Amino acid sequence: MSVTILAIESSCDDTSAAVVKDAKILANLIADQQIHELWGGVVPELASRAHQQNILPVVDLAMQKAGILKEEIGAVAFTRGPGLIGSLLVGVSFAKAFALALNVPLIEVNHMQAHILAHFIDNKPSFPFLCLTVSGGHTQIVLVKDFLQMEVVGETLDDAAGEAFDKSAKMLGLPYPGGPLIDKYAKEGNAEKFFFPEPQIAELDFSFSGFKTSVMYFLQKETKKNLKFIEENLNDLCASIQKIIIDILLKKLEKAAKKYGVHEIALAGGVSANSELRRRFEELGTKNNWKAHIPKFEYCTDNAAMIAMAAHYKFLKGEFTSQNTEPLARYQL
Ligand code: KG4
Ligand code: ZN
Repeated sequence: MSVTILAIESSCDDTSAAVVKDAKILANLIADQQIHELWGGVVPELASRAHQQNILPVVDLAMQKAGILKEEIGAVAFTRGPGLIGSLLVGVSFAKAFALALNVPLIEVNHMQAHILAHFIDNKPSFPFLCLTVSGGHTQIVLVKDFLQMEVVGETLDDAAGEAFDKSAKMLGLPYPGGPLIDKYAKEGNAEKFFFPEPQIAELDFSFSGFKTSVMYFLQKETKKNLKFIEENLNDLCASIQKIIIDILLKKLEKAAKKYGVHEIALAGGVSANSELRRRFEELGTKNNWKAHIPKFEYCTDNAAMIAMAAHYKFLKGEFTSQNTEPLARYQL
């Protein structure tokens, strides 16, 4: 059975719309919000206002790019959560109204599940596989048993990996979001120059708050001695911070893969855009003879194509949502 799905993603600060036809992405448009840079982080109220302004033009453009008329849409999908409640509300309300007007089914999608299903846009990992999902709000190791059957086997007890990048970047005086800038400066730096202790957390869970504090105290101590310490060592600081965050992530992923006996590993979420993480993740796969999957760059950070892909599998299973649905700021896998 052939179906065309329009999908909306608005969980944080990107307004995105995508069109998928029979598991093939026909369009994927993203309007990002530069306004937050001024404030050093996402301001929820500003984000939901910008979503309201962006949503119509983004959906219009996605349909134009896909070359479809609204009459051809067979279902409307949206991110139900997790995310910022005001941002989610814009996407949820829009999707409900659009589905009602077209008289087609609604499909709710869990944002974290969608990050994982982004792998199926142009790849086919075999089940079961382990996915390390690393974003601005989450850090999880997920055992993926089937398209819609997933189990979180490890997660962060405090900050997410993306926050560890962004908060360290802020301490270095870099603008938000700092993750991509750490990646950029680290390319010219020496990762062995500075050392920060790794947290000792049991089993497969993570913690980044102690790491963040140790970076803060270290920078305070060194800038007291030399006001220009950060400026003079920016590349080496970025490389060293990045190395520890990646060490923490990949050690746990390796431990999890051995524990569950899987031979395929995957990387998802915004932080998987990090070039050094991608390189070392592939190296980990090669070392252990595991297949290592990474989505294309544009499907790593928030996008509606991944929502559309998740909706495609839900459509096949007849998993639809009622018009009474509401967004969920917290939404377990
Ligand atoms: O998945 P995502 O787009 O949004 C959330 O759902 O959170 O992830 C955003 C996070 C931010 O913390 C951002 O700094 C981080 O992903 N990020 C990176 C890179 N690109 C994005 N972190 C490190 N290196 C990058 N190249
Ligand atoms: Zn995300």
